[in-house]
Amino acid sequence: MNILPVFPSLIIREKIEDYDKYKDELILYAYEQEKKDPDGLKNSKNLGWQSQHKYANSQNPVSSIVINLIKSILNNKNIFDIKDLSKARMQMWININKPGQINNRHDHPGSDLSGVFWVKSLKKSGDLMFYSPNYISQYNQMNLIKDEIGKKLFSTRSIAFEPLEGTLVLFPSDLSHAVPENNSDEDRISVAFNIDLRNCLT
Ligand SMILES: [Fe+2]
Repeated sequence: MNILPVFPSLIIREKIEDYDKYKDELILYAYEQEKKDPDGLKNSKNLGWQSQHKYANSQNPVSSIVINLIKSILNNKNIFDIKDLSKARMQMWININKPGQINNRHDHPGSDLSGVFWVKSLKKSGDLMFYSPNYISQYNQMNLIKDEIGKKLFSTRSIAFEPLEGTLVLFPSDLSHAVPENNSDEDRISVAFNIDLRNCLT
């Protein structure tokens, strides 16, 4: 018998090998930005501090490190066929979530790919949870399939990604996600982004 997991949502995970070289600079920069704009962007979905969405189109430590990593993924010709990535439009912002804070479930309408890069996180800082777009339409099957088969085929209600420092997760923007409570005793700092690829199609 064959069971084929057709029409998947592709989630890409990539990390910076020598992240320790950049970590302190990024943490310092994130707190500097929070100090300059303590109110940040008010967002009911994110109960922590969120910066303005202004970091993609200027020279700063966040854009130079995270955008280079994004480029290394999207310009990988073994995976994508994007002729001119400079036509992509990007928004990028910084999140600081203190212990106890959460990011409510949301998605990123109007964008093609979204992602997060963990600047500072611990095992208990809160997993990135993705929720299946098929949860309602395939509810009965999803609840009746054996756990090990469901997990093997990614046919589950949700999937958790551990927040790993120096690691980036790239996902389709319509994929619903959330981060539960930061149960560590330190801030979780991340950089998030949206990428609009429509101009890359021509
Ligand atoms: Fe998000």
